[in-house]
Amino acid sequence: MILKKRISIDKIKKKKKIVCLTAYTKPIAEIADKFADILLVGDSLGPVLYGYDSTREVNLNLMINHAKAVVKSTQNSLIVVDMPYGTYEFSKEKAYANAKQIIDSTGADAVKVEGGVEIINNIKFLIKKRINVMGHIGMLPQKMGKMEKPKIYGKKDSEKRKINYDLQVLESSGVFAIVIEATRSKVVNEALKNIKIPTIGIGASNKCRGQILVTEDLLGLTTFNAKFLKKFTNLSKKIDIALKKYSKEIKSGQFPGKNNMYK
Ligand code: KIV
Repeated sequence: MILKKRISIDKIKKKKKIVCLTAYTKPIAEIADKFADILLVGDSLGPVLYGYDSTREVNLNLMINHAKAVVKSTQNSLIVVDMPYGTYEFSKEKAYANAKQIIDSTGADAVKVEGGVEIINNIKFLIKKRINVMGHIGMLPQKMGKMEKPKIYGKKDSEKRKINYDLQVLESSGVFAIVIEATRSKVVNEALKNIKIPTIGIGASNKCRGQILVTEDLLGLTTFNAKFLKKFTNLSKKIDIALKKYSKEIKSGQFPGKNNMYK
C-alpha cells in the first residue's frame, strides 16, 4: 500500500505561489501530481472530455467517478472536486448531503462551489459541518447559457463592487481559497488589497497567489482559445503525427514487426 502524504490546506495557505491544474483522469493526474499543489477535478470535464455544450450538464455521479480516479492515482496534491450545477445552491442541507457524498466516496480533500454572497449561507453550513470549501467568483461558467461566449467580468461598476464584496464575504466565511475567473486585472488587484487567503487566478491577475488552467487546454489538446490561455505545447499535433505513422505502418505491413509478436 502506498502511504499518501498530501499537502495540507495549512501549508497551501502559507505558500507564496500556488500551482493548480485540473485533472479528470488517471494518466493526466499521475503526471500533474508531480507539479501541482492543488488538482481540481473541474466540471469543465463536461465540455472537455464529453463534448457537452455547458458545464450545467455535468452531474454528481460523473464528478464522483472522475474524482475517484484522480484520488486513486495521486499522492501529493490536494484534491478539490467541483460541485455540479444544481447540487449546492438551493438548500444548505442538500449542499451538505452532496458535498459529504463527494468527500466520503472519493477521499478528496475539498469541494469548490461557484458564487459569492448569494450562496454564502450554504457555504457557511458546509464549513460548519467540516467540509473544506474553495470559492469561485468572477465569470462563472455554471451561470452561462449553452454555447454562450464567456464575457470578461469587472467592466460594470456593479461587478467591481461585487468582486470586492464577494471576496470579503467568502474570506470571512472560512473558505480556504478562492478562484477568480476571467476578471479585469485592475479590478482584481484593487479587491485583493484586503484579502489574506490564497486567490487562484484564471484570466484574473498575476497578483493572485495561485494560477490554474485546464490541463488539456495548456497542453494543446483542445481548440479552446482565450487571451488568458497560454498553450505550453501542441499535443494534438504530436498525436496526429503518431497516429498517422501508426496507420501508415499497418498499411505497409511494417507494424507489427518481429519485436511486437510472440515467438
Ligand atoms: O471546472 C473547472 O475546470 C474550473 C477551473 C477552470 C477553475 O472551474
